[in-house]
Amino acid sequence: MYTLIDKLRDTQNLTKNEWLLLLKHLQGTSIESALSEYLFSKSRSVQKSNYGKKVFIRGLIEISNICKNDCLYCGIRASNKNAQRYRLTPEEILTCADEGHEIGFRTFVLQGGEDPYFTDGILCEIITKIKNKYNDSAVTLSLGERTKESYEKLKKAGADRYLLRHETANESHYAKLHPANLKLSNRKECLFNLKQAGFQTGSGFMVGSPFQTTENLVEDMLFLKELDPAMVGIGPFIPHCDTPFAQYPNGSVELTLHLIALIRLMLPKALIPATTALGTLDKQGREKGILAGANVIMPNLSPESARKKYTLYNNKLHSGAEAAEHLRLLKEQMNKIGYEITIERGDYLCTNTTQNH
Ligand code: 5AD
Repeated sequence: MYTLIDKLRDTQNLTKNEWLLLLKHLQGTSIESALSEYLFSKSRSVQKSNYGKKVFIRGLIEISNICKNDCLYCGIRASNKNAQRYRLTPEEILTCADEGHEIGFRTFVLQGGEDPYFTDGILCEIITKIKNKYNDSAVTLSLGERTKESYEKLKKAGADRYLLRHETANESHYAKLHPANLKLSNRKECLFNLKQAGFQTGSGFMVGSPFQTTENLVEDMLFLKELDPAMVGIGPFIPHCDTPFAQYPNGSVELTLHLIALIRLMLPKALIPATTALGTLDKQGREKGILAGANVIMPNLSPESARKKYTLYNNKLHSGAEAAEHLRLLKEQMNKIGYEITIERGDYLCTNTTQNH
């Protein structure tokens, strides 16, 4: 196993069989083991040589929990009648950005369900306003599947980055997590369209989603290698009580940490968040994520009332603290483990000209 980890670090590549061997082994391995310690020390050293001890922050603004899709795992799926729906107005979104900028955020992530209200026209107007007011800041979108033309318009309006997890790279697994109208092939096409439109593009998947096999995870790693995204978000699956997956168990925090480390070795320059889902299952989840090789944290800037309603899964972390207080605590937590929050924009360290900003 040690030689596989070395090979991945040295070549950023493993074969399908090597991935299978390594992931099968790590699946039953405690993060306290000598092998895990070895893996994390390697991923930390790659993290350090690319980004030093910096942790980038992104201000998350949850703009709407109205969604036309019906993904089986997600709490804001269209058929969940218990979800209290909301949508922020463009003014409210701007106010969130104002408050975030004031305390040091230089990236704003507009995330939401696939809400038909947010047409290209409305989104472009919001993006333009934020970018005109804060030309030192990046705008990231996380708004699901749209047409190539739509992505191009949003890019032209000034958006810099786009997050769209592939969720699982296996066709039949994808079909078990999604309704029939959603196809993995379209998801992948969207991701390549986003890259082509010039976005710093992010993908990722849930760890331990229902029916996931080790073979599926191998496919996830191979797909990420092929896509070569600027950002990779992974987090444990957490059931939501009003979904068909209410009775399925949580994904494993330990496996998520192992996968973060492996992604750091495979894609050394990737921006990898220690996700909210990780922090939800483990009080120390975010710190552990950073120590496994992640280098991004995405605190919530949404209004308190919206935060409670944006429940993709149960017990989602939403600190009662206001954003400024939350950021102060976060700085302390990061300092304690030897890292520092930076207010830099934190763009992808480009290796080619197609992924500029
Ligand atoms: N558990 C964990 N993550 C979830 N997501 C959606 N529902 C859940 C859940 N029940 C993730 C998906 C999506 C991202 C915004 O949140 O991967 O892409």
